[in-house]
Amino acid sequence: MFRSLKASLLIGLLCVADMASAELFPKVGRRASVTEVAAWDIDVRPDFRGLPSGSGSVRQGEKLWESKCASCHGAFGESPSVFPPLIGGTTAKDMARGRVAALSVASETAKTTMMKLATVSTLWDYIRRAMPFDAPKSLSVNEVYAATAFLLHLADVVPADFTLSEQNIAQVQTRMPNREGMSTRHGMLDVKGKPDVVSEACMQDCKVNEKSLVVLPVSVNGLNGNLAEQNRPYGSIRGIDTSRYK
Ligand code: HEC
Repeated sequence: MFRSLKASLLIGLLCVADMASAELFPKVGRRASVTEVAAWDIDVRPDFRGLPSGSGSVRQGEKLWESKCASCHGAFGESPSVFPPLIGGTTAKDMARGRVAALSVASETAKTTMMKLATVSTLWDYIRRAMPFDAPKSLSVNEVYAATAFLLHLADVVPADFTLSEQNIAQVQTRMPNREGMSTRHGMLDVKGKPDVVSEACMQDCKVNEKSLVVLPVSVNGLNGNLAEQNRPYGSIRGIDTSRYK
């Protein structure tokens, strides 16, 4: 009796909540609750807004890596088996300059995560939301710090006795090998320094500026040779046959 009273009270509450959301979005789902939104609202920005406090050492990261990451990414983040390697291809010179030289060499097709990564916040954020691939969001905050610290150590960004925390992550950013590598206004092809798409950030009543849309010619598909025949240093890329575009 008591149980069913409780149950009907709960159903009653749900109905009230449902009616409120039904007005807002007739027949479409319901409003997300505050806790539901909080569970998704976990982004960490380049200025470290959203970064929870905590810490993790390279050594702790190494242990975690061996049990939860190495099977897919290799003991040193070098494995090409599930994804291009995470670590490799960066030099001390790159770290001093903030730009990875190998990215500008057209014949250098191997690109690791560490070569491209401009912001350490992205590494932290990505690991927390997406890794391990088979159990995303299962790591604690301190474990995410530790895994990040270990990867940074493999890339020679931090020493072996380093402990990464919200206190020193901004300093680490100043050592990221490709920290000056982010650009937001560029063309995918040579479009004389102009971006392919230009638009103002807009969330409401947005106008499409037709002049800013660039339709790429079909022939660009052949610019990089026949994708179907190519093997990258880290394994095969199964691309489409682009020989007919030459
Ligand atoms: C079951 C296999 C698997 C395991 C285990 C795993 N990963 Fe991954 N990882 C992947 C795959 C697959 C991708 C590419 C995912 C994608 O692009 O959608 C990836 C991507 C990544 C990337 C991003 C690379 C990039 O450049 O975008 C990082 C960083 C990473 N993993 C770190 C980790 C860490 C840290 C762990 C352990 C806590 C881990 N991974 C465990 C399979 C795995």
